[in-house]
Amino acid sequence: STRVIIDTDPGQDDALAVLLALSADAELEVAGITTVAGNVGIAQTTMNALRICQLAGRSDLGVYSGCAQPILRPLHTAEFICGTDGLAGMELAPPRQAARAEHAVTFLIETLRASPTTMTLCALGPLTNIALALLQAPDIKAKIDRIVIMGGARDLGNITAAAEFNFFVDPHAAAVVFQAGLPITLFPLSATYQAVATPARLKDFDAQGVVGGPIVSMLKRERPGGASLGGNDGHPMHDPCVIAWLLWPELFQGRDCNVAIETAEGPTVGRSTIDWWGRSGEPANAHVIETVDADAMFARIAQSVRSLDAT
Ligand code: BDR
Ligand code: CA
Repeated sequence: STRVIIDTDPGQDDALAVLLALSADAELEVAGITTVAGNVGIAQTTMNALRICQLAGRSDLGVYSGCAQPILRPLHTAEFICGTDGLAGMELAPPRQAARAEHAVTFLIETLRASPTTMTLCALGPLTNIALALLQAPDIKAKIDRIVIMGGARDLGNITAAAEFNFFVDPHAAAVVFQAGLPITLFPLSATYQAVATPARLKDFDAQGVVGGPIVSMLKRERPGGASLGGNDGHPMHDPCVIAWLLWPELFQGRDCNVAIETAEGPTVGRSTIDWWGRSGEPANAHVIETVDADAMFARIAQSVRSLDAT
């Protein structure tokens, strides 16, 4: 099985991604969850990661609280999508366990250094923690086989016309990660907008289940934002694509290209320039996903998370 660390800012689509990963424990060994400020502030994303682990019956899993601020820019959050608690629609119980004492960046560095095998990092929020770990301890690159990232926009952005939310929140961190020389798989919005949780795709989830219930009520919640945020017939499930790609790569297609991140302030800050046609002559630094077999992906997610209700 693949050893992974999930870096996340839950966030409803983050929540489904984490639940999917925990349900696939034969294929993925989750070594820990690191949290970052993004959709909501750090205290709340950490609280939410703990609530999600508890829902999955995995309060034993370490949750490590990370950076409260992007490297340089002021924090932008997304309560207009996620609600004030970040998990609107799920109504999860408060956690009985607390986060571990170690900082997320320390956990990333120490876990990678101590790992007998290489590990995969799953990046579901702004890249602040991962960038800082790479800068503080470049030796950990030898232990990272790949970073799978939800972020960026090949076409239009969602938080501005140019930029996707995760890269807009911390473009400097994204630039560090894309310049690190590590294998990257990137899910930009053009891919994740295919993964809309339409009513037809919800039918296989167990709406009565302890875990299925909050998932279905989250996926059925009222949609703020409308078409500019990814279609009108359901919420786009950006972050679960990252975990689904690790489990079922045959459902996705993409190509290797160069990705550059705009860090200068102005209308394009946070833009990911994805050199789809290879015009720049710059070497490829990411495998960029283009297509998602979303019907199959949702059917498999529904089936996988049912195992959390069965135990
Ligand atoms: C990304 O931003 C967050 O709001 C989502 O959780 C996802 O990671 C989509 O732009
Ligand atoms: Ca996220």
